[in-house]
Amino acid sequence: MVPDHLAIIMDGNGRWAKSRRRPRLMGHRAGADALDRVMHYCKDAGIRYLTVYAFSTENWKRSDEEVSGLMKLLSRYIKSKAKRLVEDGVRFRVIGRRADLSEKLQKEIADLEEKTREGDFTLLVALSYGGRDEIVRAAAKLAAAGAKFTEEALSACMDAPDVPDPDLIIRTSGELRTSNFLLWESAYSEYYFTDVLWPDFGKDEFDKAIESYSKRERRMGGRLK
Ligand code: FPP
Repeated sequence: MVPDHLAIIMDGNGRWAKSRRRPRLMGHRAGADALDRVMHYCKDAGIRYLTVYAFSTENWKRSDEEVSGLMKLLSRYIKSKAKRLVEDGVRFRVIGRRADLSEKLQKEIADLEEKTREGDFTLLVALSYGGRDEIVRAAAKLAAAGAKFTEEALSACMDAPDVPDPDLIIRTSGELRTSNFLLWESAYSEYYFTDVLWPDFGKDEFDKAIESYSKRERRMGGRLK
């Protein structure tokens, strides 16, 4: 079985750049190229949803230079890839605290979301995203509506409630943490960790992760038959 929804913690861009004595931003640029490659592997494999952790709520603490460099990279990515995403049938969506982003970037995101609305493969980019923050915002919505707190009601208030929960979550660069990524949605997700740094993540690693997933028995809390 191939996952329907793959999520990735794209970690190790900084170390990749450091090992080449290059600025960290160069690692992020190589990370954006890796994302393009992996998106195509996903489409070819029959995966329908890809969520990537591009900028966490904690990432605002990085140097001004790195934060503004990452924002520029995102803006450039949106502008330079728009046509290609439409042609490739990729629906672009953002989850996270989008109001934290500059108004210009918010507008570019909204325009791209609108332009790519018909795509049948969905790329979800987590920006200024934190899993706890998403849960708190969802709870606040429910409370404001005076609604009853149930799992279904809270799920419906998450940032992409129509998207199925991730089946597989990959984290690169050897770190064995979830780092506040998709906390609510990952309740039954499988994890795959690899030492490979994100910019080096290629087809071989992708195939290994999917093969590992395909061999697992997902019990979702139930008993094996
Ligand atoms: C983690 O590596 C990576 C990030 C915080 C940024 C990820 C962003 C991209 C791949 C850029 C492109 C995204 C889009 C949607 C165009 P790190 O910097 O924490 O690496 P380190 O742990 O080695 O320092």
